[in-house]
Amino acid sequence: MGQGAPAGLNRPPRGEKKKDGDKKEKKFKPAAPPARVGRRQRKQRGYGAAARIPAVTPLAKCKLRLMKLDRIKDYLLMEEEFVTSQERLNPRLEKKAINRSRIDIFRGSPMRVGRLAEMIDENHAIISQGYYVTVLSFVDKDQLEPGCKILLHDKLLSVVGLLQDDVDPMVSVMKVEKAPLETYADIGGLDAQIQEIKEAVELPLTHPELYEDIGVKPPKGVILYGEPGTGKTLLAKAVANSTSATFLRVVGSELIQKYLGEGPKLVREIFRVADDLSPSIVFIDEIDAVGTKRYDARSGAEREIQRTMLELLNQLDGFDSRADVKVILATNKIESLDPALLRPGRIDRKIEFPLPDINTRRRIFQIHTSRMPLSEDVNLDEFVMTKDELSGADIKAICTEAGLFALRERRMKVTHPDFEKAKEKIMYKKKDGVPEGMYT
Ligand SMILES: Nc1ncnc2c1ncn2[C@@H]1O[C@H](COP(=O)(O)OP(=O)(O)OP(=O)(O)O)[C@@H](O)[C@H]1O
Ligand SMILES: [Mg+2]
Repeated sequence: MGQGAPAGLNRPPRGEKKKDGDKKEKKFKPAAPPARVGRRQRKQRGYGAAARIPAVTPLAKCKLRLMKLDRIKDYLLMEEEFVTSQERLNPRLEKKAINRSRIDIFRGSPMRVGRLAEMIDENHAIISQGYYVTVLSFVDKDQLEPGCKILLHDKLLSVVGLLQDDVDPMVSVMKVEKAPLETYADIGGLDAQIQEIKEAVELPLTHPELYEDIGVKPPKGVILYGEPGTGKTLLAKAVANSTSATFLRVVGSELIQKYLGEGPKLVREIFRVADDLSPSIVFIDEIDAVGTKRYDARSGAEREIQRTMLELLNQLDGFDSRADVKVILATNKIESLDPALLRPGRIDRKIEFPLPDINTRRRIFQIHTSRMPLSEDVNLDEFVMTKDELSGADIKAICTEAGLFALRERRMKVTHPDFEKAKEKIMYKKKDGVPEGMYT
C-alpha cells in the first residue's frame, strides 16, 4: 500500500506496464477530428442580424419594457466602451496588415470560382471539376460545406477563399434604392384604399404595439385588384415613397425563370433578403403571371410556374413567422388567382380599385392639369361628366395628348378643342379602332 495516490487503488497489479501504456496513449492520441468541417452553421441572417437590437416584448409602454430597454442600453454602452478601448489598445493591427499582404501573395490573382463537392479531411477537398485539391490554412473551415462557392488559385487550384453571401444578383436589383416620386398627394380619390393599405402595411411596421393592445395579429399582406389603369401600381409607388421600410419590387413575370427550380429559389431569396433588411415591404406586381389556379399542369413549364406559386404560399405562411415583412400583390385578374393564395391568413385584405366616379375623375383631371397652362375656355367638367368609362390612366393620357396637340401648333396654352381631340383619340384607341358613337 505504498502507492498512496488514490488513483493507484484502481490500477491492475501490473501497474508499471499500464503506465507505459498511458504514455503511449498520450503519444499517439490522434488529433481531435475537425468537428465542424463541412457543417456550416447557418449564418443566413445576413450582416445586419448581429447588429440588430433584439425585439422587446411586451410592446405596450410598461415598466417591464422600460427595464428591458434599459438593460439593452447598458449592454450597448458597455459594448461601445469595449470597442473603443479595443481600438486604442490593440497593438496587433500592424502585424495583421503584414499577414494580410502575405495571404494576398499566397492567394495570387486572378482566381477561379468553383464549387466544393466534398471535404476529405481538414486540409483536402474534392471540387466540382473533379480535382483533389488542398485547402489553404487561412480559409475558414467552419464555413465550408458541400455545394458552397469557393475561390480557387489560378494554377494550383487550391482553395484560397470562400464566396460568402451568394444572394442572387436579381434580388439586389429589386431593392428600391431611390424612392419613386409619386406621393399620396398625386392620387386622385381612392381615400378608402389608401386608408386600408396604410392600416394593413404601414401601421404594423411602425406601431406594432397598437395591434398588440387590440389583440389582433396584423394582416400579412394585401392584394390590390381592379380594372387596368385604376392606380394600383401608383398606390404601391406612393407607399414606397412614404415608408422608411425597405421596399422590394418584383414583377410576377420575373419569377418565371429558364431553369428548373430557379423560380422557387428566387422567391425564397426575395423573402430571405426581405427578412434580412426588415422591416420591409415586398411588392409583387401582376401576380397573375404565377398565381393562376392549380390545375393539372401537363407541360414542364406550367408545373414549374405552379411550384413557384407553392413556394410563394409557403413563404407567406411557412414556419418562420415574419412579423415585419409585409406583402403587397397587384393584379387585374383576381378571379384567375388560386383561391389558396387569397384565403384568410395569407392575404387577408383585398382592396378593390373601381373605375373613378365623378368626384374622383374631377380630382384626377385637376392633378394631371395642375402644371399645364390652360386657356380660359377649357371646361374640364364636360369630360368629367361624360358617360364613357374613363380610368385614371385614360384621364392622364387625355391630358398628355392635349398638351401634345398644343405643342404641335407651338401654342403656349392648351385649349378646349385640344382636349376634345385628345379624348376622341384616346377613346378611339380604347374601343379597338371603333370610332366613338358608331354603334350608339
Ligand atoms: N386615382 C388616380 N389618380 C391619379 N392618377 C391616376 C389614378 N389612377 C391612375 N392614374 C394614372 O394612370 C397611370 C396608370 O396607373 P397604374 O399604373 O397605377 O395602373 P394599374 O392599376 O397598375 O394598371 P394595370 O392593372 O394595367 O397594371 C398612372 O401613372 C397615373 O398617372
Ligand atoms: Mg400596374
